[in-house]
Amino acid sequence: MENAEGYTAAGINYVSYEIIGGKPGIEGLPASFGDASEVSTLVLHCADKPNKLKIDLYYSVFEDVDVITRFVTVTNEGSDFIFLKKLYSACLDMENKDFETITLHGSWARERHIENARVGHMKYTVESTRGESSHQDHPFLGVKSHGTTDDFGEVYAMNFVYSGNFKATVQEDQFDNVRMTMGINPDNFKWCLKPGEKFNAPEVVMVYSASGLGNMSRTFHDFYRKHLIRSPYLHKKRPILINNWEATYFDFNSEKLVSIARQAHELGIEMLVMDDGWFSNRFDDNRSLGDWWVNEDKLPGGLKPLVDKVNEIGMKFGIWFEPEMISPESELYKKHPDWAIAVLGREPAKSRNQFVLDLSRPEVVDYMYEQVAKILRSANIEYVKWDMNRQLTDLGSAYLPPERMGELSHRYVLGLYSMQERLLKEFPNLLLENCSGGGARFDAGELYYSPQIWCSDDTDAIERLSIQEGTSLVYPLSTMGAHVSDVPNHTVGRVTPFETRGHVALFGTFGYELDVTKISQEDRDMIRTQTEMYHRYNDLVREGDYYRIASYRQNGSFDMCGVVSKDKKEAVFVYVQVLAEANMHARRIRLKGLKEDLKYRVSNINESAGKAEVSDGASDAYAGGPGMLIGGDVLMNFGILLSRRMGDFKSSLIHITSAE
Ligand code: GLA
Repeated sequence: MENAEGYTAAGINYVSYEIIGGKPGIEGLPASFGDASEVSTLVLHCADKPNKLKIDLYYSVFEDVDVITRFVTVTNEGSDFIFLKKLYSACLDMENKDFETITLHGSWARERHIENARVGHMKYTVESTRGESSHQDHPFLGVKSHGTTDDFGEVYAMNFVYSGNFKATVQEDQFDNVRMTMGINPDNFKWCLKPGEKFNAPEVVMVYSASGLGNMSRTFHDFYRKHLIRSPYLHKKRPILINNWEATYFDFNSEKLVSIARQAHELGIEMLVMDDGWFSNRFDDNRSLGDWWVNEDKLPGGLKPLVDKVNEIGMKFGIWFEPEMISPESELYKKHPDWAIAVLGREPAKSRNQFVLDLSRPEVVDYMYEQVAKILRSANIEYVKWDMNRQLTDLGSAYLPPERMGELSHRYVLGLYSMQERLLKEFPNLLLENCSGGGARFDAGELYYSPQIWCSDDTDAIERLSIQEGTSLVYPLSTMGAHVSDVPNHTVGRVTPFETRGHVALFGTFGYELDVTKISQEDRDMIRTQTEMYHRYNDLVREGDYYRIASYRQNGSFDMCGVVSKDKKEAVFVYVQVLAEANMHARRIRLKGLKEDLKYRVSNINESAGKAEVSDGASDAYAGGPGMLIGGDVLMNFGILLSRRMGDFKSSLIHITSAE
């Protein structure tokens, strides 16, 4: 902090404490919740007396899921302003030694790949200064004891409930003890706290696992499903959607969309999502962001006739927006050039040919909210894909006074949250899916507003193995936007079987991203099989416990993960043989998460064009004959045998049900 005299020293001392039942919310920010039977909160009241600052540290202990969260508030009780310049939300000091980090690194179309490094005396940092949680680093930091696997070893992890600039660090100190921190990134952050004002620092979720990474993931998943995601869709099957982005890009009209909807409906798809390109002169990505009126050349008569038609066919309707952006070539920019984030006298950098709107400015937030809401009020729109396709640069606001310029990035995030909060208040049944050039804002902050987030623009089934593995390290499968797309894949040009694409997408929200009017009859038949498969397994995938069996990222050859129901009576595993190997026979795989003394039936389901072939364990599963019961102990300690298949990228789905 820096006080009015320019001093930067701080001395924060304990004053008193209280313990309150339940979990308080955090004004303006996403926050976990829970009642007094699930969580109690220790508040440490502290003070920096010379600076007349009151600092409250909130530790919430969620006993039902074994999580502690932490956030901080700072109140100026003096009569002069003070600048907050660095305010982390959590810090852990530990005597543990010999740790390795676990982080999620990426880029566009390659989000959240798991990485490890040794913790040493040099500070290890993951951070974003891009105005969003970002494709590149992720607001998650774990440390694990040496040799920790999915099933064994100690892990301490922090995850930030925030969607903007963050910084997380870990380092060994001079005595080789470990310190971990997480909070808003101090870069570009300088908050002017006037007398009487209070600043809320966002919440950090902390998880400890004594039994490996798998237990850590399941703890995060349970926590987010129970204590963070509010959507009425959380425990419901989401409608299977078809999105026209990879099918048409900007080149579509009502007729095309209706033809997609008609054919999709016949195959069991339940919702059409109209992506980018429906408004103003948006024929490409050079223009029109900010001009949210319907292009009637593309959609004659406006939205309502199209939505009604799609509804008549029996499909729901969803729409794409990018409300935080403004194209230099737009009516809005002509009228309000000062609404874009920019430094006075400098031409801001364009990215994807667009600028970012200044969401620190209340009139911009109000205006943009109205643009979105007006469209939603005009027709029966049940889903919104809320996109954000560039990061923040040229940090300047024509609205903020000089002493508040350092508040822009955080105020931007607060503006975003307030828009989404209003949206959910006015349209409580709206299914909101966040997105940011793929998965650049897949974070716990956004999960408070939307039960699902688009994971990545890379829809290739094999690329998705690593992206979904990294994402599911922290976030439940029910939150991961995953679609089956056409081949050759638009990002990497790979050709994978339709079946494999379906199996990989099943372990997310599930949907399609292709032109159903142009694909082969064989693929169309597969869609029918897959939509039935979704209905059969989604309750389990959405609500169950996640287990990672094998990682293609680690072994370079095959991948397998699964979900086991909470009562352990049912499980589904997806196995992907990425690369075939010569002269190799069956692969023995030990399953996880089952109950040792339960007897199970194992079905290995290989779907080929249009029909599912079930081999009741006869060739693939251990211990043979159809209908044979196998103990959970055998399945977990000896395992099942999966025969090698000819060819790359083949997958199978293994369904396990208990006989009792
Ligand atoms: C982003 C999204 C895509 C698509 C395009 C539209 O890249 O991630 O899914 O919506 O924008 O411009």
